[in-house]
Amino acid sequence: TAIAVGMIIFAYLCGSISSAIVICKIARLPDPRLSGSGNPGATNVLRIGGRIAAISVLLFDIIKGMLPVWLAYHLQLSSMSLGLVAIAACLGHIYPVFFKFQGGKGVATALGAIAPIGLDLSLLLMGTWLLTVFLSGYASLAAILSALVAPFYVWWFKPQFTFPVAMLSCLILLRHHENIQRLWRGDEKKLLKRRWFRL
Ligand code: G3P
Repeated sequence: TAIAVGMIIFAYLCGSISSAIVICKIARLPDPRLSGSGNPGATNVLRIGGRIAAISVLLFDIIKGMLPVWLAYHLQLSSMSLGLVAIAACLGHIYPVFFKFQGGKGVATALGAIAPIGLDLSLLLMGTWLLTVFLSGYASLAAILSALVAPFYVWWFKPQFTFPVAMLSCLILLRHHENIQRLWRGDEKKLLKRRWFRL
């Protein structure tokens, strides 16, 4: 259990490194907390900064979720501990100790934290996200839909992880409450200008 507690703290600290804030600072881009949607995440960095910065943020945020879970898996921690490590990484991203507890929405970090479960599951989740973005144009809608279906996918692939993944989904959905209101009102900003479908 000491190892499990250590890994949970390590995961929280990894998650707390808000790559959007750090990378925007290094690239001399505007602070993502003060521009665009105000969210320190890859989507908003793409909106305000550009592709290279956004892809760097996306990769870093995925890795900081993946690394602690992968390590915990190789330390042979129980399924429950693995779930707690994954949740801790996302909580770090959402409530970062290094940035006044004001972080992002946890989408990329959750994807990274779930990735060690399997490549097939990860690809299915990424496919769901990408398809929704292509069809609707909305990054937030893609995250919301992916979070809704993720527990069902996991239940299919590795049922023992359904509960922690459902917890991650709840966190992500709660963090999107403003996006949900904007989508409802019709004033959510699109990530893609051209879309294939009208929503
Ligand atoms: O991953 C975050 C995304 O779902 C929404 O981001 O900046 O459009 O609020 P944003």
